[in-house]
Amino acid sequence: MNQPVFSSVPTAPVSAPAKNAHVIVLGNEKGGSGKTTTCMHIIISLLRLGFSVGSIDIDSRQRSLSRYLENRRQTMLKEGVSLPQPQHIVVQRSPFNIVAEAEADDLERFTRALERVKAANDFVVIDSPGSDTYLARVAHAYADNVITPINDSFVDLDVLATVDGQTMKIIKPSIYSEMMWEQKLHRAKRDGGSIEWIVMRNRLSNIDAKNKRFMTQVTGDLSRRIGFRVAPGFSERVIFREMFLQGLTVLDIMDGAGTISMSHVAARQEVRDLLRTLKIAAIDEKLKKTGKDDQDDDDDSVEETAAVPAAPEAVAAPVAEIAKEQPAAPEVEIAPKADDKVLAAIAPQAEPVVVKEEAKEPVHSPLEKHLVELAG
Ligand SMILES: Nc1ncnc2c1ncn2[C@@H]1O[C@H](COP(=O)(O)OP(=O)(O)OP(=O)(O)O)[C@@H](O)[C@H]1O
Ligand SMILES: [Mg+2]
Repeated sequence: MNQPVFSSVPTAPVSAPAKNAHVIVLGNEKGGSGKTTTCMHIIISLLRLGFSVGSIDIDSRQRSLSRYLENRRQTMLKEGVSLPQPQHIVVQRSPFNIVAEAEADDLERFTRALERVKAANDFVVIDSPGSDTYLARVAHAYADNVITPINDSFVDLDVLATVDGQTMKIIKPSIYSEMMWEQKLHRAKRDGGSIEWIVMRNRLSNIDAKNKRFMTQVTGDLSRRIGFRVAPGFSERVIFREMFLQGLTVLDIMDGAGTISMSHVAARQEVRDLLRTLKIAAIDEKLKKTGKDDQDDDDDSVEETAAVPAAPEAVAAPVAEIAKEQPAAPEVEIAPKADDKVLAAIAPQAEPVVVKEEAKEPVHSPLEKHLVELAG
């Protein structure tokens, strides 16, 4: 965690790069928080907006994103449909046993892959593993945006900070928050760039309103102190996971489909709201340009179906609650395709951070020093 991992970053330029993609990394050292699910939905929604997308899977052990994209390819072959695809690369972990050699090897292969997809696409979206690996740290340091999905529970909040269970005060930032801080410093030193960190709550439900309120309060407190923005989250929805084996998302089946449920519409809205949080001019422009048609389309074609169990009201509450600062933006248009009718048929219907004042241990990390300064 502490070793300087970026000193030997290769700086060789790619020959005549046509583009310089915006890099989005999905990261959270905790497993099962929704990184791959969010990654898939961001990739497909960007593609559906007409952007070219490169994707990198550095979770070469699970390879969930790669399997999803392979499933998508199989669906295209089997169903004879055409679906937008990203330019995908899997970066394997180095087989070397000596740590220094393995890290140099990982760094070299990652930067080579990144340069390749950055030069050819508008966006690069990177899925990382649910553990602290060297590759994951490197990827974070090359991000323009890091998006960290967290399950909507205090059990998962510890990926951001240690919170006092009695007082709900934040005791200290987590190792992951420290790591993010370090990568921001590395990025600034390397190319003067900045990494914007976005945290999104995932699998939101309306069942535990008290928990949700506390989560909103604590993530808000943390965001101001540790330096991230809070994005509107994804609700717990079957539609976010049920089409994995077909390599599809709700964004593939919406347009042109005759019957769509409120849950489909709400899921698509949540993906759009996440995209808006990025505040990227090119995306906002597309949203603006195409929003009205899409809104009209939603109004005309929505039908509630019993097959999708997620409650529609589960959406509005968290989005409104968490994202008060998000500006209202027009709808996204996802260009209708003739093939989408086919897909509809094959898809299932369906207070400030309290840094311990009387801490007996000395404060070491840059982030902790920063927090002490802030706490005055
Ligand atoms: N909003 C959601 N609604 C319903 N199911 C979800 C949602 N988000 C994630 N899931 C499900 O939760 C599980 C974990 O999600 P996912 O694989 O995306 O997490 P991850 O962070 O990539 O995990 P890992 O750290 O193991 O790579 C999957 O079964 C996924 O389908
Ligand atoms: Mg994953």
